[in-house]
Amino acid sequence: MELLDLIRKRKSVRSFQDKKIPENMLTQVLEAGRLAPSAVNYQPWCFIVIDDKEMLDGLYQSYPRDWFKTVPQVIVICGNHKESWKRSNDRKDHCDIDVAIATDHITLMATYLGFSTCWVCNFEPTIVRELLSLPAHLEPIVLLPIGFASEEQTIEKKKRKELNQVLFINNIDTSLKENE
Ligand SMILES: Cc1cc2nc3c(=O)[nH]c(=O)nc-3n(C[C@H](O)[C@H](O)[C@H](O)COP(=O)(O)O)c2cc1C
Repeated sequence: MELLDLIRKRKSVRSFQDKKIPENMLTQVLEAGRLAPSAVNYQPWCFIVIDDKEMLDGLYQSYPRDWFKTVPQVIVICGNHKESWKRSNDRKDHCDIDVAIATDHITLMATYLGFSTCWVCNFEPTIVRELLSLPAHLEPIVLLPIGFASEEQTIEKKKRKELNQVLFINNIDTSLKENE
């Protein structure tokens, strides 16, 4: 599959069949996350696979949406703030960026193998922290349901800004300056 076709194919799916993906396939998906680039190659992440019914119910409490109740497997992607690179001049923490790249690798690999995912960040982190007994430096950043979509997936045209709305050469558009 061409890379652009794969990128076009990946979409957020919010309806899953009640079955887990095979363990060797999940390993391949997570391998794509493991290989992601990160600032100074610190790899400040961990991937926690949740597939136990009680644990999934616990996660649901952090994101109580009907569709989320039925997901068979969730990868909780955590950022490790003890390990992440902080830029020397302003201490900007690059943890979120690194976790986002790893997550994107995971979603694309899942798509490549025929599975579906949906980024979820709008959850209550205190509930996830408590459920997984996470220490303070491990931040749950993304809940990523993964599985078989319950309907056949079609490739739809993405609702995205046009390239000429976001691409500037040598300068930015005056309208962007007005938003300051
Ligand atoms: C950082 C991030 C956070 C997101 N959080 C949620 C979320 O909490 N719940 C949800 O249903 N979708 C969430 N999404 C999915 C977006 O709504 C979705 O990616 C966007 O609408 C584009 O659609 P597509 O993924 O199908 O291309 C999130 C996506 C990203 C990248």
